[in-house]
Amino acid sequence: MHLSTTYAPHARSVQLTAGGVSIVIDLPQSRLPAIVHWGAVLPELDAAGAAGLIAASVPVAASNTPDVPPRPAIIPEHHSGWTGRPGLSGSFGGRLWSPRFRTVRADLDGVVVEGHMSAAHGTLRVEAIDDNGLLRLILTLELTEHGLLRARAAVENLSAEPYGLEDLTLAFPVPREASELLDFAGQHNNERVPERRPLRTGIHLRENRKGRTGHDSAYLLHAGTPGFGFGRGEVWAVHTAWSGNHRHYAERVPTGEQLIGGGEVLLPGEVRLAPHESYETPWVYGSFGAGLDEVARRFHRHLRSRTPRVSTERPVTFNVWEAVYFRHDLDQLIDLAERAAAIGAERFVLDDGWFGSRRDDTSGLGDWTVSDEAWPDGLHPLVKHVRALGMQFGLWFEPEMVNLDSDVARAHPEWIMASGQELPIEARHQQVLNLSVPGAYAHVRNQILAILHEYPIEYIKWDHNRDLIEAGDRTNAGRAAVRAQTKAFYRLLDEIRAAHPGVEIESCASGGGRVDLRVLEHADRVWSSDNIDPHDRQSILRWTTQLLPPEYMGSHIGSPRSHTTGRRHDLAFRAGTAVFGHLGVEWDITQATPEEMTELREWIDFYKSQRHLLLDGDVVRMDDAVDHIFVHGIVSRDRSRAVFAMAATDTMYPDPATRMKLRGLDHDARYHLRPVIIGSSPSGLVPPLWWGQATQSGNTFDGRTLNEHRRRSVELPGAVFTGAVLERAGVTSPRLHPDQVVLFRADRLD
Ligand code: DGJ
Repeated sequence: MHLSTTYAPHARSVQLTAGGVSIVIDLPQSRLPAIVHWGAVLPELDAAGAAGLIAASVPVAASNTPDVPPRPAIIPEHHSGWTGRPGLSGSFGGRLWSPRFRTVRADLDGVVVEGHMSAAHGTLRVEAIDDNGLLRLILTLELTEHGLLRARAAVENLSAEPYGLEDLTLAFPVPREASELLDFAGQHNNERVPERRPLRTGIHLRENRKGRTGHDSAYLLHAGTPGFGFGRGEVWAVHTAWSGNHRHYAERVPTGEQLIGGGEVLLPGEVRLAPHESYETPWVYGSFGAGLDEVARRFHRHLRSRTPRVSTERPVTFNVWEAVYFRHDLDQLIDLAERAAAIGAERFVLDDGWFGSRRDDTSGLGDWTVSDEAWPDGLHPLVKHVRALGMQFGLWFEPEMVNLDSDVARAHPEWIMASGQELPIEARHQQVLNLSVPGAYAHVRNQILAILHEYPIEYIKWDHNRDLIEAGDRTNAGRAAVRAQTKAFYRLLDEIRAAHPGVEIESCASGGGRVDLRVLEHADRVWSSDNIDPHDRQSILRWTTQLLPPEYMGSHIGSPRSHTTGRRHDLAFRAGTAVFGHLGVEWDITQATPEEMTELREWIDFYKSQRHLLLDGDVVRMDDAVDHIFVHGIVSRDRSRAVFAMAATDTMYPDPATRMKLRGLDHDARYHLRPVIIGSSPSGLVPPLWWGQATQSGNTFDGRTLNEHRRRSVELPGAVFTGAVLERAGVTSPRLHPDQVVLFRADRLD
């Protein structure tokens, strides 16, 4: 780390610059730290420059407001005159509810901050004590090498009395020109639905009280310059990395200051700090970028820089859920396994229904022992067969849940979460098992570990199929315990991983209901949605990549007729959508035709040949001229190769003159761009002139010929363009029927 220190009496500040982002933090003594710049790079400031910027960040006093205009801290403080949302709320039995903190120490990567310091990436740690000496606050703020900002805080009770904490939320400032918001809503089968609105005076608050991240989670809350898109505008985003109750918010106060922030939502009485106890917030992440792609890329780089990094050799997964549901029949499963291996699957996952009395969703949850009834010889015959076929074996669990009709619920009703005598309303016939009770935790851990000990399991699909309603601890007077449950969940994941380091874990919660950066500190991929319909998946995957790189998104090829929507789709559309994630198949392929099996194999071969690019490159999404045309791609980090896709999800391309603009390549380099047609060609295809002649002799290539013959896996010549032409001028796009996709490969020539 390069540090330059300039001492300026009574003033302390820090500048961090990394990955195309600068952040400047003012560290006054009698206030909590405030960010005075977060955004585009500022050339390294000296002490005078930093002091100038800090002075320049102080707002002008408005009429009839405090004499010293308040400037919000990272934990906004009421006593400073800030009448917006405070960062810390709590009291000692109603007293001392507006603490005044003084910074007693600040260090940057362990070096005490004096005057102004600057560095590249680094971690700032600030310790503050309130004037009464009753609370200690530790604020940690980091700028990663990829320019991702993250911060969290811990409050410790230094007094002899309990401290009732209601809320500790962090916030980052965004400039006034960031006047448009984008976050997400959604529901089961329709996750991450973008919503835009103007940022106006007041608070835009997204609170989650579901005890899991939620299908409707705000996911990322962006504020940007009007009209910002994937490749345009300046955008600031915040993400609360927490899988329990949490919030995201954006606030503009009447005098114009604007913040975006987040934290955990605490239930009444949930955190009551005994003397010397402390509470720590989740990490709150901030990403700035020129466009949404750059915002997303910082998160992708962050996840990819972890050790160990998830492999780009992600095995093609065959999951049996939509093939057999609860019908566990060994012969049929062996048949499926053989067919799956024949098309190139590398992992076979047995889903719900293998344990206890679980023959449907009304019974057996919580009893994690193999069912004698369904599996008289245990899982061994299937596991051995799957492994003999060269595939890994994966197994489904839902460790935080119970059916009342289960041995564990009968034996330990006190382990079921409830806030009073009555049990909470059921969802999917199930209740929540309180993992914060040591006995319940040990029961689940020991049963899972016993299964992992008995069978060579390389993958766990970890499900969570209901919200936490009235989630109290019956062994402790029904006190709210969502936080305790969330922490126990993380601990359990860690214990299982520590005991079986090779096991990969998928975070699933009725599809994409538990997708956040914290769960991914403990798991290796997410199940993006229970909806595998490619029409809907185009949008779900497009927006899930706003936080996660493709290798983290479970992405399956489903049945010809979607089980969730009833729509029918060609295999080329299902597969051409799914290859932009961690590919799998979830389809009763005993019903597939020989032609479909051949085509499926070709798509899997394509994925395998391209996965180092698809699961390692940079995601680019185009700001499409038309809403229902999705153009996106993956560009290798060295810009030598790319795979793009153009999907039409509604009526035919309305304007044949529309060009696809392909971003992300080297402007000066020349690329050979050609369509990739795997299996039968897309329905309704009218190819543009630049695609050229088909290489197969005698086949003059025109739309009619393709439509009539639906030829298989054609190699087309394509054409050569510079990266600048592809990005700035664009190339004519083909016409397609709705719900069709065309893939393109771009290979650098020089
Ligand atoms: C919900 C999951 O999202 C599905 O994929 C499947 O595992 C079912 N649960 C099983 O009950």
